[in-house]
Amino acid sequence: QSQLPEGYTIRPLQRGDYAKGFLDVLRVLTTVGDVTEEQWNQRYEWLTQHNDQYFMITILDSASRVVGTGALIVERKFIHNLGLVGHIEDIAVAKDQQGKKLGLRIIQALDFVAEKVGCYKSILDCSEANEGFYVKCGFRRAGLEMAHYY
Ligand code: ACO
Repeated sequence: QSQLPEGYTIRPLQRGDYAKGFLDVLRVLTTVGDVTEEQWNQRYEWLTQHNDQYFMITILDSASRVVGTGALIVERKFIHNLGLVGHIEDIAVAKDQQGKKLGLRIIQALDFVAEKVGCYKSILDCSEANEGFYVKCGFRRAGLEMAHYY
């Protein structure tokens, strides 16, 4: 397991992460939009009510700013004897914090949870540009992503 830089912490998402720059970290990934604190609180409540299915983690720097995040969603199947599949989503590390193994640490933490809860595999979609990162994290190319946007 890789180490975090001195003073950094990794832990589950907390309500107070809204004020610590959580959404700005996600903005390195894609459009987030204007999410008010009230909307954040509602979504956070929902996530806590589904905490056997949604595992969201954050990394904070020594000044308690959110610098990285990732999510694991556990899907409950009928196939493979009621198998569980982990879906890794929304991995993001703040631009000025990339290259410090924070992304790797996030994936290791989500992998640990996935295995612990009994997933037989974890899967994710990514761009070609990120393939090398996920290979370093122990993943390999499998299948092809397709999307239907509404
Ligand atoms: N291509 C090839 N190798 C890479 C890449 C890449 N794009 N990014 C990192 N690596 C390598 C690193 O060099 C390092 O290798 P090493 O162990 O030999 O030194 C290893 O992968 C681990 O890198 P980290 O330092 O942990 O990577 P970082 O903290 O910068 O996080 C991430 C990588 C999450 C892709 C970050 O660059 C980022 O936030 N990018 C923008 C958002 C994004 O694209 N997120 C992923 C979307 S896919 C999804 O969410 C499922």
